Amino acid sequence: MVYNKVIKLLVVEDEDYDIRRIKNTLSLFADSIQIQDVVSSGPHALDLLRNNENHYDVVIMDYQIAGGLMGEELIRKIKEIIPALQIIVITKMTINITDFNFANRLMKAGAFWYCTKYPGDIEDFIYQPTDFILSIYNAYEKKLLEQDRNRSNRKLSKNIEDILLQKIIIGRSKQVEDLRSKIDKYAQNNANILISGGSGTGKELVAVNIHYKSQRRFENFVAINCGSLPQELIESELFGYEKGAFTGANSKKLGLFEVANHGTVFLDEIADLPLQAQVKLLRVIQEGEIEKIGRTDKIKVDVRIIAATNKNLAQEVVDKRFREDLYYRLNVVPINVPSLKDRPEDIPLLVDHFLNVFCSDLGKSKHSIDEKATEILQHYDWPGNVRELINVIQRLSIIAENVITASDVNNALISLPTLRFL
Ligand SMILES: Nc1ncnc2c1ncn2[C@@H]1O[C@H](COP(=O)(O)OP(=O)(O)OP(=O)(O)O)[C@@H](O)[C@H]1O
Ligand SMILES: [Mg+2]
Repeated sequence: MVYNKVIKLLVVEDEDYDIRRIKNTLSLFADSIQIQDVVSSGPHALDLLRNNENHYDVVIMDYQIAGGLMGEELIRKIKEIIPALQIIVITKMTINITDFNFANRLMKAGAFWYCTKYPGDIEDFIYQPTDFILSIYNAYEKKLLEQDRNRSNRKLSKNIEDILLQKIIIGRSKQVEDLRSKIDKYAQNNANILISGGSGTGKELVAVNIHYKSQRRFENFVAINCGSLPQELIESELFGYEKGAFTGANSKKLGLFEVANHGTVFLDEIADLPLQAQVKLLRVIQEGEIEKIGRTDKIKVDVRIIAATNKNLAQEVVDKRFREDLYYRLNVVPINVPSLKDRPEDIPLLVDHFLNVFCSDLGKSKHSIDEKATEILQHYDWPGNVRELINVIQRLSIIAENVITASDVNNALISLPTLRFL
């Protein structure tokens, strides 16, 4: 441990002879530990900390001091103001020597360590001075670590705020308000979710919002489209394989469930998952373990599963294309994302938002849209839902002049017939 920095202390102590003991004990370490301030009451200490956030590294506080605010309450208040600051409590020998509950209470309140002092006014040093000094060094190390962790958590939180801002769900219809409150509610727990809704309604967007609002937000969100993978690849994509598990397995592969460990797996087009893979998925959900190809022992995983489908999955169960037991395991809480044609009042908001996005991408000033044009968009039935609307708006932002008219909209809708089948 080499410190090129001086550890700065705040001492909270009301007995002159105890202040003397602390000073004497520290005097041999003056080049690396310095008392910055000494105060004699809890409220005074809090005032100083509020006004000098970066002034101290470690607080040395007497357990019992005059002025009312003391002990665990003072420790908690100090940690509230500066969470990374470390606190070493000095107590009378008589209190703590055998009282583990006392030590436990101090630590739970947030103290880093505690040291004892001689009873009365008889010695010049803190009892066991080396322990005292070492605890200051250790407290300082912990303060630096916590400061770093807080900083990187703040950075991560900022990234997540940015993601949520990009993945904002636009709409003020009753249906979208309901959707938002479900997202907020389900983000608070860990239940598996089945999202249903037409193509392009925003099912993946809903899943992303749930993940980034949940406690799992610092971990991975991994999405896979069960319909787009050939049957023989699904298992290795989901669960991975070991090197040499089969011919051609030249190196080991992590499965999506491992990548998403502690986070969320989004299984899109779940109705297209082959029956064989459905059995394996059921086992993962039931046992919280995956079986990797080429490996005998199982690997524990903790993932939340959000599945999505634009089919009627209950009907798939009736038709024996989807396992009933898996259906119930996935469909713990259902979410239905409403079709765009059922919430025409959201269309002007979506139009406004995406015109803003596309016009600024094109370096144009934002187009406006006249009433008739908006009305046509609100009466169209949007088989491709929001995705189709976004495509139409992108097109309009390229072809239209400053004001988008009814004929621009009609042209844009006619010239994108294939979108209807997306
Ligand atoms: N309410 C909304 N506000 C803003 N953007 C939205 C909204 N709903 C959907 N989108 C956007 O529309 C596009 C399609 O959404 P998404 O991919 O989530 O739909 P989906 O239901 O998963 O589609 P598919 O059925 O094709 O898988 C995305 O770009 C998404 O960000
Ligand atoms: Mg999707």
